[in-house]
Amino acid sequence: MKFFIDTANVDYIKEANDMGIICGVTTNPSLIAKEGRVFEEVIAEIASIVDGPISGEVKATTTDAETMIKEGIAISKIHKNMVVKIPMTAEGLKATKALSAMGIKTNVTLVFSAAQALLAARAGATYVSPFLGRLDDISTPGMDLIRTIADIFAMYDDIDTQIIAASVRNPIHVIDCALAGADIATVPYNVLMQMVKHPLTDQGIEKFKKDYIAVFGE
Ligand code: E4P
Repeated sequence: MKFFIDTANVDYIKEANDMGIICGVTTNPSLIAKEGRVFEEVIAEIASIVDGPISGEVKATTTDAETMIKEGIAISKIHKNMVVKIPMTAEGLKATKALSAMGIKTNVTLVFSAAQALLAARAGATYVSPFLGRLDDISTPGMDLIRTIADIFAMYDDIDTQIIAASVRNPIHVIDCALAGADIATVPYNVLMQMVKHPLTDQGIEKFKKDYIAVFGE
């Protein structure tokens, strides 16, 4: 399983990219709004940092396929690595079909059932994004969804849609996603940092330092 970072914050993106742990970025309208920056500008800056798939979503106010297609074409022109993120609706599926036929990569988002994931794959989606944490929030095991989609996609050779486990909230989610067969987990910066840390690593560093200084000095 590979990692994308789920943020539009360029400082976090730079930091994770420098560590060599991410190979792509996902954004959404809430994450863009949080940065308070112009969409095209922030997306172009992100694409200049990470050499991998960058998901940029069609406008949150857009609901019809025709406008999604127009916006998707514009997003794809920002950078060669752009992936157009499209909401999982009937109109979104039409836009996915049209954009895929033009060779534009798509990420169908807000997927909460295996049926939705299968439809998105058949519409030609490059990626589907099942939302783990938001399902957990309503007492529905999100991990079961990731596992079911992975099982279904593995049964059909003609499905090459990749699963991006989204709405990831903690390191346990990440490991369970890897075991469940997600191709990618898109992980917020704070969760990536939680994954880096272990108290025994910190203690070990302190002890090595203390033992070394006791004999050799600073
Ligand atoms: C996926 O691409 C979304 O940006 C994201 O994972 C949403 O997660 P949230 O439920 O933490 O907002």
